[in-house]
Amino acid sequence: MRFTLLAAIVMLSQATMAQTTVPINVERAKVNYRLNCQGCHLADGSGLPGVVPTMKGLVGNFLKVPGGRDFLVQVPGSAFSPLSDADLAELLNWILATMSDEHKAPDFEPYTEAEVQRTRRRLLADVAKTREALINSQRATSPHLQ
Ligand code: HEC
Repeated sequence: MRFTLLAAIVMLSQATMAQTTVPINVERAKVNYRLNCQGCHLADGSGLPGVVPTMKGLVGNFLKVPGGRDFLVQVPGSAFSPLSDADLAELLNWILATMSDEHKAPDFEPYTEAEVQRTRRRLLADVAKTREALINSQRATSPHLQ
């Protein structure tokens, strides 16, 4: 009986871990970023003022407002990239971890292949408008943002 209970606990914790742990292959994420994103976003994610927004030290703030998590997948640079759903999920997790780790909520759940698959298909009708609304919500919750 005790053994069964212990086995059940172990199995349960493994199942939970399998759900929340998405390993990042850092080398692959770096190569995918270099090939698909860096041309616009630059190596460190600082972007081009007025043309490409900076992701460095900021991008994680989108996760704090409703719709922001989806936006990071649906934005054309992500959604229309030639990357597979699994590679895009990994790349976004890597971008968030390397460029804006401090802004992720403590209960942040990494993107998964399944989430990216269903989210990237729902195209944004108006990217600029959606982005502006999300930034306004971020300012409302984090007034220090510019
Ligand atoms: C042709 C230039 C270009 C490329 C290539 C590009 N992006 Fe972007 N990215 C932008 C622009 C411009 C925006 C601002 C939103 C918009 O107008 O699309 C943006 C916004 C974003 C955002 C939301 C951040 C924000 O502040 O709006 C994310 C996340 C993102 N890009 C990820 C990626 C990823 C991942 C790749 C590579 C797979 C990539 N982008 C490739 C130009 C690019």
